[in-house]
Amino acid sequence: MGRVFVCDHPLIQHKLTFIRDEATRTKDFRELVDEVATLMAYEITREIPLENISVKTPVATAECKIISGRMLGLIPILRAGLGMVDGVLKLLPAAKVGHVGLYRDPETLQPVEYYTKLPTDVTERELIVIDPMLATGGSANAAIDVLKRRNCTQIKLMCLIAAPEGVKAVQEAHPDVDIYVAAIDDYLDEHGYIIPGLGDAGDRLFGTK
Ligand code: PRP
Ligand code: URA
Repeated sequence: MGRVFVCDHPLIQHKLTFIRDEATRTKDFRELVDEVATLMAYEITREIPLENISVKTPVATAECKIISGRMLGLIPILRAGLGMVDGVLKLLPAAKVGHVGLYRDPETLQPVEYYTKLPTDVTERELIVIDPMLATGGSANAAIDVLKRRNCTQIKLMCLIAAPEGVKAVQEAHPDVDIYVAAIDDYLDEHGYIIPGLGDAGDRLFGTK
């Protein structure tokens, strides 16, 4: 069963409060999502492996650590995942970025795939699928399916807000995928919106409603 990490750092929780607030306008919403993504990147990389190296300081040799292991890939789910990419890249500037385009059919709530573009070496990378909202879990599961069909094996999922239903769906479909969230909310309403949530993440990020 994939592990679920709730990133409860006070700075993340403080900023998430303003992200949820309906009075927060597009510019501030976008900046806050970017900042929380950076802070979450700090949490999500906590377990990446290190190796020892020696470094000559001006006065002696220091036994130091350097990040080792697989290179990283960020996979934002379009559109709303784009709002978190730059924030993660601030900490992981060497990561490559692949895109999976999905929208949720408003009637069936099923994800519809419309675009995929992945780095050529994607199978060699440890991947972080990025989407602010994990509602039914359909979109996250579909994006992870896309990656697994391309033989990717090392996948994590990073979201701002999850519904319990979405967490369960991803854990059942992809028990090898760890999930990082800033909050797990109460439930999904009849339209598939996370309650209390933050509304429509894509519309709030891009000012489309
Ligand atoms: C939102 C959100 C997720 C999806 C979550 O995207 O960004 O991708 O819904 O819902 P699910 O867990 O039930 O699949 P949306 O389909 O609204 O597209 P957008 O990002 O283009 O606005
Ligand atoms: N997608 C969103 O943007 N918000 C929700 O609450 C659910 C799905």
